[in-house]
Amino acid sequence: MTAHLNEIEKNFISELSPIASLQDLEELRKRYFGRKGIFNDLLDKLKKLSSEQKQKEGQALNAVKESLEKSLQSKLKQLEETQLRAELEKNREDWSLPAAPLLIGSSHPLTQILEEVMETFVSMGFSVAEGPEIETDENNFGALNIPPDHPARDMHDTFYIRGNPQHLMRTHTSPVQIRVMRSQKPPVRIIAPGRVYRHEAVDATHSSVFHQVEGLAVDENVSFADLKGTIALACQRLFGKNVQTRFRPSYFPFVEPGAEVDISCTICRQSQSNCPVCKGTGWIEMMGAGMVHPNVFQAVGYPPEITGFAFGMGIERIAMIRYGISDMRLFYENHLDFLSQF
Ligand code: PHE
Repeated sequence: MTAHLNEIEKNFISELSPIASLQDLEELRKRYFGRKGIFNDLLDKLKKLSSEQKQKEGQALNAVKESLEKSLQSKLKQLEETQLRAELEKNREDWSLPAAPLLIGSSHPLTQILEEVMETFVSMGFSVAEGPEIETDENNFGALNIPPDHPARDMHDTFYIRGNPQHLMRTHTSPVQIRVMRSQKPPVRIIAPGRVYRHEAVDATHSSVFHQVEGLAVDENVSFADLKGTIALACQRLFGKNVQTRFRPSYFPFVEPGAEVDISCTICRQSQSNCPVCKGTGWIEMMGAGMVHPNVFQAVGYPPEITGFAFGMGIERIAMIRYGISDMRLFYENHLDFLSQF
């Protein structure tokens, strides 16, 4: 029987080692240790021996059985581990996959231009002033040399406020000039960015709400040359070193002389008769400007010998030229496809 045991042990070991699946292992276990397995068979045989032999053979049998069961257990553990590892490998998270991009917001294109314009003038010694969007008739018109019934009021299609004839939605940022001059003595050097309102039908180049930046410089001996130099430098900083500026005589009641300022076309560089931006003229209208009218100084209580210049420009216009945008409504519609380009 002992010789037989040795053979069983050898067989078991050689059968066990190539096993690669839990199923095969279970099959092996049943065959050796199951109810009708090889070891039960041996036990049955053992019972038929004399008690002396039983004890001797029994010990040998148990020793082999225990050792084989141990091998089986360790193989079981090994196979379970391999299987677990294979499953983990299969369902493994791929940490190297790039994450969904974080959406980082940016300023609205109009805000970007506004900030650029402000930086340009702040670097030239201007400080930023602000005023309310609901203004008095006096600040928006009266003190700016536009008395009631003056035909110049027709230049501004104004939103008035029902039941409150002395107040209106400001039609330009020029009333900030009045507010600043009434609250401080000369010298003054301010720019005033903000929203303005006109009762206009909305189309590709008009909106009932838009943005302006006002400029005002007041001091002794301020001349038209100072105005030209300031504007020329600012336009070069905003549109490029080679940009030309041109002043055309124009009428605004609160300046004298008054001018409209054009810049040389930055799109076609004055070379295309069919340029959609300058319409072949080579020039783009940029802002209104001029020397502050004596009546304005009088209205704010400044001495008559004081001098100053003022200018006002539309922010939408600048943004459209800078970014090549042909429809102003894009600025207000809040489409991310449009906005995320800036
Ligand atoms: N306020 C004028 C407008 O809205 C622009 C302007 C400002 C003109 C300052 C001259 C001086 O049209």
